[in-house]
Amino acid sequence: MNILTFYISKGGSGKTTCSLNMGHALGELGQRTLLVDLDPQGSLSKLMLKESDTIKYMTLFDVHARGLAIEDILFDDEKHNVSLLPSNERNARLINLISEQDKLFLLKDMLEPLAEEFDWIILDSVPSINELSKVVLSCADHVVVPFMPKKLVYDQLGSTIRTIRQVKKFYNASLELTGIMPVAIDAGLKGDREYAEAMRTLAESEGLDILPSVRRAAFIEKAADNGKSVLQYKSKEGIELALPFRELARLMTEGGNTG
Ligand SMILES: Nc1ncnc2c1ncn2[C@@H]1O[C@H](COP(=O)(O)OP(=O)(O)O)[C@@H](O)[C@H]1O
Ligand SMILES: [Mg+2]
Repeated sequence: MNILTFYISKGGSGKTTCSLNMGHALGELGQRTLLVDLDPQGSLSKLMLKESDTIKYMTLFDVHARGLAIEDILFDDEKHNVSLLPSNERNARLINLISEQDKLFLLKDMLEPLAEEFDWIILDSVPSINELSKVVLSCADHVVVPFMPKKLVYDQLGSTIRTIRQVKKFYNASLELTGIMPVAIDAGLKGDREYAEAMRTLAESEGLDILPSVRRAAFIEKAADNGKSVLQYKSKEGIELALPFRELARLMTEGGNTG
């Protein structure tokens, strides 16, 4: 079992979108993939379950507080090899709990019963709810930093990389920083090109790989709103937008480093 997370300490920067599409890209390669929603707003759950409210679904909090079996609360999309562990407001309580120092590995322990059942687990988190990011990074084997060409995202890039390296040093030596994945870049816009260039310079000075890039497209958002990944579309645009996710999934399943 491999645990992957998309992490940057800024909200609204493509983490959930990347998680959904990577889930399908890994599933397509025959990898049994579980998406774990850790966001108390349940964004990924709302998209995948096509619901505006996910309060009726069981979450990791219920596994912890009520002793439910984790394998009983999953939603399986067998056709696509993708399962979902939903989230809702109740999960905020679990997140507060696991964010305490001595609970750092509780999340990992909770996921352990699924080790045989899944090849990949993707953790879709939120930045800075207490120490959640640290917990998630302590649990992960691979972390990909999504990069949207925005000032507030660029400003967080350096501290994001520092946090990842600190967690690796102090808590999780096996954490691999796979690289930076440019998302929602419009090459026709000067501003986007400038941020992409600044990111490239930073990646180079930090010795980080730049992963396949996703261009900005309303199509991705519309697909997600319909509970779908872009991989499920056979249109020219769908195939083109799925390419970076398929490529990244291939790189990651071939194992080792992408560089
Ligand atoms: N490649 C893209 N092109 C256009 N919009 C995108 C792209 N990737 C993500 N978005 C949109 O950006 C917004 C934030 O993305 P999201 O994945 O929800 O971020 P996060 O999980 O980091 O908060 C969403 O509305 C999403 O649909
Ligand atoms: Mg999100």
